Amino acid sequence: MAPYTLAHLSDPHLPPLPKPRLIELAGKRALGYVNWTRNRHKYQRREVLDALVTDVRAQAPDHIAVTGDLVNLALEAEFAPARAWLDGVGPPDRVTTIPGNHDAYVRATTHRFGETFAPYLASDDGSIGFPAVRRRGPIALVSLSTAVPTPPLMATGTLGRDQLASLEQILERLAAEGVFRVLLVHHPLKSGARHKRMTDAAELLALLRRHGVELILHGHDHIHSTMWFEGPNGNIPAIGVPSASALAHGRYPAAAYNLFAIERDNAGWRCEQTVRGLGSGFQIQQIKQARLI
Ligand SMILES: [Fe+2]
Ligand SMILES: [Fe+2]
Repeated sequence: MAPYTLAHLSDPHLPPLPKPRLIELAGKRALGYVNWTRNRHKYQRREVLDALVTDVRAQAPDHIAVTGDLVNLALEAEFAPARAWLDGVGPPDRVTTIPGNHDAYVRATTHRFGETFAPYLASDDGSIGFPAVRRRGPIALVSLSTAVPTPPLMATGTLGRDQLASLEQILERLAAEGVFRVLLVHHPLKSGARHKRMTDAAELLALLRRHGVELILHGHDHIHSTMWFEGPNGNIPAIGVPSASALAHGRYPAAAYNLFAIERDNAGWRCEQTVRGLGSGFQIQQIKQARLI
């Protein structure tokens, strides 16, 4: 049987940013808007994102995961275009998304992500909330939300006690079912920057040491990243990707995405990673291929 293929892209930060209404520019958004107009608009490009998504679709993966930061300042006017964009990536049964810190940028619009993307977040039983669980082929996608509004200049994320407690039960149940468990979470489980970290990563790591998953996919840092974390039966790979709309700038690489080919291998699993990303002339090319598991 052909391997099950899962594509992972993240942090599209859908460009262009609509012009905010004056009333929307109080507090944290004011700084974010200055940052967008001075810097971010130069390297978060719609044509890059479109080239990447065209390539993802041409690869015809079985499923696509988008791990957050779909919008920028969580302005009211950003959500409808972001939904239209995600509809273009694929239908809700083949695409799963979770929120990032930019999707919950300010308290006033934290509910908008859930409303806008409900069909793409929902668990198989139709419930909306996190953790969410979606079974597809041999895999189970377990979605978490670290998206909470934070003060200006902060980009931290938090799971909270309730979500961690539910996750423990879910992982226990799935372990008994022998599926390939993929954890989707916006923030990386380890961060060098205090103002960008997941505040309760230690609790999540402790839980994963007890129950394990087979693969962790995250965004947020906008770089290629492979980290390994301790699980009950060996180390768990955690993979991060650059922003799906980015031109290379500073220490940040150009847009890329990952393809994972997952199949049973005797008593265990085999998982191969292919990285595809932006080359010259907006061409998307293969950057790397490696066996993860
Ligand atoms: Fe981001
Ligand atoms: Fe982020």
